[in-house]
Amino acid sequence: MAFIAVGVTGGIGAYKAVEVCRGLQKQGHDVVAVMTRAATRFVGPVTFEAITRRPVITSQWKPGMNADIEHIAIADGIALLVVAPCTANVLGKFANGIADDFLSSLYLATRAPVLIAPAMNSNMLAHPAVQRNVETLQARGVQFVEPGEGYLACGWIGRGRLAEPADVVAAAVRMLGTDAGINAASDAGAVDSGQGSVLRGRRVLVTAGPTLEDIDPVRFLGNRSSGRMGFAIAAEATRRGAKVTLIAGPTRVEPPVVDEVVRVRSARDMHAAVLQSAIRADVVVMAAAVADYTPAAPAGEKVAKTDGPLTLRLERTPDILADLGKMTSRATGVPLLVGFAAETGNATAKAREKRTRKGIDLIVANDVSRADAGFDVPTNAVTIIGSDEEQDVPVQSKERVAAAILDRVERLIRSRAATPARA
Ligand code: CTP
Repeated sequence: MAFIAVGVTGGIGAYKAVEVCRGLQKQGHDVVAVMTRAATRFVGPVTFEAITRRPVITSQWKPGMNADIEHIAIADGIALLVVAPCTANVLGKFANGIADDFLSSLYLATRAPVLIAPAMNSNMLAHPAVQRNVETLQARGVQFVEPGEGYLACGWIGRGRLAEPADVVAAAVRMLGTDAGINAASDAGAVDSGQGSVLRGRRVLVTAGPTLEDIDPVRFLGNRSSGRMGFAIAAEATRRGAKVTLIAGPTRVEPPVVDEVVRVRSARDMHAAVLQSAIRADVVVMAAAVADYTPAAPAGEKVAKTDGPLTLRLERTPDILADLGKMTSRATGVPLLVGFAAETGNATAKAREKRTRKGIDLIVANDVSRADAGFDVPTNAVTIIGSDEEQDVPVQSKERVAAAILDRVERLIRSRAATPARA
């Protein structure tokens, strides 16, 4: 049984949140409802009180609410925060760290995973401002239940309707299940506030996103990497007290706030930036999807079409990880090198081989043929492979996968206790 907060915001679907609470209770969970002021205009708090058998939180200014700083107490106690329905306004507050009511303060204060079921008019949902907020939240590991299509309260027919309560409950139950998985798999003490992390004060270099290889001034070769996995690792390393440099290819998702962000475009740019920065690093995590080939002779002018086919000659890009693996300082085991292996079948065996061939310490294998793992999705499922141990990390948010990877990095650093932190 888990303690779950259900946030209800001011949308016409607010009445469906009653069913979400009921559904979670039927699964044996204890639920507290948190309503925004606008939500109380759609459904009375008494309805939620009767269902949850708990006082409903409607304001942070109610007498008694601050006696034990309720939002912190709840934030610490919950295993999951579900927001259904979530309006464009509340999405925007979460994405931008605005905490002007109980629910938005709770979002900032909790370390529990967050599940959001958006509901709004189709045009609002499609608006770039809202889409950007969704991407920002996804990059932080927040999970979403897709809104449905159908009649909207505003009279439109389209996408934006709150997902069915049963789907919200199923997504919540899945998240609780997988979170239990990661907690069991991760190193106790490593996923704490970062106080005791061996990464504190160390320099961590993380790469993320795709590289783009120019064909001419307007065309390029790229790949589907969103940058989310690398961003999650950079954010988690920062949380653990590391000094993080993030070298990222072009991404739509905003990078997290870290010590230094270096933007690059091509594999060659990334190679130069990484080699320059790696000299000072204690750990290098190559989560970027670096192009293996680039046009041999990019055109200075836009290439005009002809009637015939076009042949593009590609040449190999430098292998950044392999070059790091060959660095003479590797004799000291510093920097500790972590690579990724995106495969579409037989991922573990191929990754094992790649780890040895590139001369690196850890490789994170993921099967990108799965719909819920790899490129351009907020979740991942990986196997972390070292020389002595292989650890399966089941599907969960990229934030949690990042924590599992850094737990493993920490274990390796501790086992090489002689490795000094660099000044
Ligand atoms: N990598 C790199 N430099 C490159 C290409 C990849 O450093 N030019 C890194 C990636 O960041 C990743 C790992 O190497 O950490 C992936 O290895 P790679 O050999 O490129 O594997 P894939 O491209 O996934 O697959 P394959 O070699 O089978 O084509």
